[in-house]
Amino acid sequence: MKWLVVAFVACILVVGVYSADESVEWCYHDPSCNDTTWPTIVPKFCNGSRQSPINIVSADATADANLTNFTFTQFDNTSALAEIINTGKTVKVNLRSGVRISGGGLPEPYDSLQFHLHWGNGSSTRGSEHTVNGKSYPMEMHIVNVKSSHNLNTTLAVNDSTGLAALGFFLEVDTSLPSNQPSSWRTLTSYLNNITLSGNVSSITNEISLDDLLTGVNRSKYYRYLGSLTTPSCNEAVVWTVFKEPIKISSNLVDLFSTILHINTTDASPLMVNVFRNVQESQPVTTQAREETSDSPKACASLGLLALSLVLGKS
Ligand SMILES: *[C@@H]1O[C@H](CO)[C@@H](O)[C@H](O)[C@H]1NC(C)=O
Ligand SMILES: *[C@@H]1O[C@H](CO)[C@@H](O)[C@H](O)[C@H]1NC(C)=O
Ligand SMILES: *[C@@H]1O[C@H](CO)[C@@H](O)[C@H](O)[C@H]1NC(C)=O
Ligand SMILES: *[C@@H]1O[C@H](CO)[C@@H](O)[C@H](O)[C@H]1NC(C)=O
Ligand SMILES: *[C@@H]1O[C@H](CO)[C@@H](O)[C@H](O)[C@H]1NC(C)=O
Ligand SMILES: *[C@@H]1O[C@H](CO)[C@@H](O)[C@H](O)[C@H]1NC(C)=O
Ligand SMILES: *[C@@H]1O[C@H](CO)[C@@H](O)[C@H](O)[C@H]1NC(C)=O
Ligand SMILES: *[C@@H]1O[C@H](CO)[C@@H](O)[C@H](O)[C@H]1NC(C)=O
Ligand SMILES: *[C@@H]1O[C@H](CO)[C@@H](O)[C@H](O)[C@H]1NC(C)=O
Ligand SMILES: *[C@@H]1O[C@H](CO)[C@@H](O)[C@H](O)[C@H]1NC(C)=O
Ligand SMILES: *[C@@H]1O[C@H](CO)[C@@H](O)[C@H](O)[C@H]1NC(C)=O
Ligand SMILES: *[C@@H]1O[C@H](CO)[C@@H](O)[C@H](O)[C@H]1NC(C)=O
Ligand SMILES: [Zn+2]
Repeated sequence: MKWLVVAFVACILVVGVYSADESVEWCYHDPSCNDTTWPTIVPKFCNGSRQSPINIVSADATADANLTNFTFTQFDNTSALAEIINTGKTVKVNLRSGVRISGGGLPEPYDSLQFHLHWGNGSSTRGSEHTVNGKSYPMEMHIVNVKSSHNLNTTLAVNDSTGLAALGFFLEVDTSLPSNQPSSWRTLTSYLNNITLSGNVSSITNEISLDDLLTGVNRSKYYRYLGSLTTPSCNEAVVWTVFKEPIKISSNLVDLFSTILHINTTDASPLMVNVFRNVQESQPVTTQAREETSDSPKACASLGLLALSLVLGKS
């Protein structure tokens, strides 16, 4: 069973590969295989000590000057999205080669393989995997990247504690937006009607870039921690980056995910809803060093010293 699950992870990660046969191993919707059972199904990894997702407590995130800006290569390329797939567990978009990330405190460049999404049961329900100060969002996007020295070999990557780098973006409903916004997400979701059943694949022919999908997010602001894959086999091989600012989206587009897609190969199978893992034990989280401004901690510290010297001078 362990090997089946490991093989499954390799399949979902490798660009262009999909196999429908192994999906009986774990699930989100049934008590016999939902996330509470994963530590029993894959005890070696899912019962580990740096499991994802987590609740991020912003006040506990420590400053790390190593967390510089990222360089995003080919994120502006409107031909980078190759195909969109209903895996029975998520909607996944495979990326063409050449997309990569570097900087951001990562030990080396990472090649971008795919992105996929997590959601709940409609725009007013919980659907994100990570939470911040206990707050969840209706959706979360994960861009999966593999350490470039592994040459896209995900078997090697999942055996390396920093073999994968995942970028997490929250999606938040913005009630001030009209329907079908942003247009990049309107275009992406227009493909959902073509992949209603598990195993369905559709080529992406419309011009959308990753930058278009990440619209409005300041990618200089993020949290960092070491965690795991959030699906079995839960390998503890992921450098997590969770961006602070959400992508803002209209509620009708969020609702499409929970009303169109099925988890198996017939229309009679359940709708794909609540496809997220619950939060795991907390981990140390870092974030950018605070910029020094006139009212920053440095200024406060000098004021404190001044106060202290006044007290000492008086005594
Ligand atoms: C998951 O399964 C457990 C039993 O294994 C059950 O108690 C729990 O309610 C289930 N959760 C969901 C969200 O279905
Ligand atoms: C998971 O690990 C804990 C200790 O960290 C242990 O008590 C528990 O039995 C383990 N569960 C499984 C299913 O292996
Ligand atoms: C920052 O990077 C340097 C050099 O890679 C490393 O020695 C140091 O431990 C890092 N600091 C933190 C807080 O991770
Ligand atoms: C964009 O990506 C396509 C497909 O990978 C590639 O053929 C093309 O050269 C890229 N464009 C640029 C400007 O790099
Ligand atoms: C999802 O929401 C719909 C509509 O609100 C409801 O009918 C359905 O039972 C919900 N499904 C689950 C699994 O909660
Ligand atoms: C990945 O690396 C492993 C271990 O070196 C090797 O056995 C396997 O064939 C490689 N897979 C691919 C697709 O190259
Ligand atoms: C996994 O990594 C360990 C050490 O980090 C190494 O001994 C082992 O050979 C690796 N396994 C594979 C399949 O690469
Ligand atoms: C969906 O499939 C139909 C029929 O194959 C095709 O005409 C249409 O262009 C596809 N839609 C998208 C958004 O790919
Ligand atoms: C979607 O999957 C079903 C079930 O496997 C299959 O019969 C159908 O042809 C697929 N549709 C498309 C557009 O690939
Ligand atoms: C993004 O955040 C950085 C760091 O806080 C800030 O310096 C920069 O001005 C912001 N960029 C935009 C476009 O708001
Ligand atoms: C990081 O990028 C932001 C734009 O988002 C910019 O304002 C800031 O100056 C950059 N920081 C460094 C150190 O280059
Ligand atoms: C999908 O349907 C097939 C055939 O009915 C069944 O054998 C399989 O267990 C189902 N898979 C899931 C994940 O429900
Ligand atoms: Zn994910």
